[in-house]
Amino acid sequence: MVRDIVIYPDKRLKLISKKVESFDSELHTLLDDMYDTMMAKGGVGLAAIQIGVDKQVLIINIPKEDALEDNQQSKENTLEMINPTILESEGSEKSQEGCLSVPGVYEDVTRAKRVKVRYYDRDGVEHIIEDDSFLAIAMQHEIDHLNGKLFIEKLSIIKRKKFEKEWKKRAKKKK
Ligand code: CO
Repeated sequence: MVRDIVIYPDKRLKLISKKVESFDSELHTLLDDMYDTMMAKGGVGLAAIQIGVDKQVLIINIPKEDALEDNQQSKENTLEMINPTILESEGSEKSQEGCLSVPGVYEDVTRAKRVKVRYYDRDGVEHIIEDDSFLAIAMQHEIDHLNGKLFIEKLSIIKRKKFEKEWKKRAKKKK
């Protein structure tokens, strides 16, 4: 089921998400709803808090570059991460990010180049993943959501002020 996305500056986006304790059907429904919502909105990643659920759950689906067809975001390619923890990070790299909770905004953000992350899948099985591609950036972006942080908080003061000004202008237009 497609759910509504929580949009900045909604205060829920600042919540620290809680650890998942039981890997039950409620969790599976949440993951399925997150997938439906991410696909409907055209995102490559989504944290549970973005649909208003403060649990340490995120999904990532990066379309394959060698895709023969337009849409390679199949459900099997979706990485589901429960209670993720960054164990190691190194290097730094700047890349452009966007977020379904801050629609239409794309900015360069600096993050670690390589990360090693421990997480649990929907059945509660532990996994460790190491990556230095765009997936590493996406994992850091989504894990930030679980800690109540948005990518726009990583912008320089000048860029952040410019963003806030434009965001307010846009909000006024909508009213
Ligand atoms: Co985001």
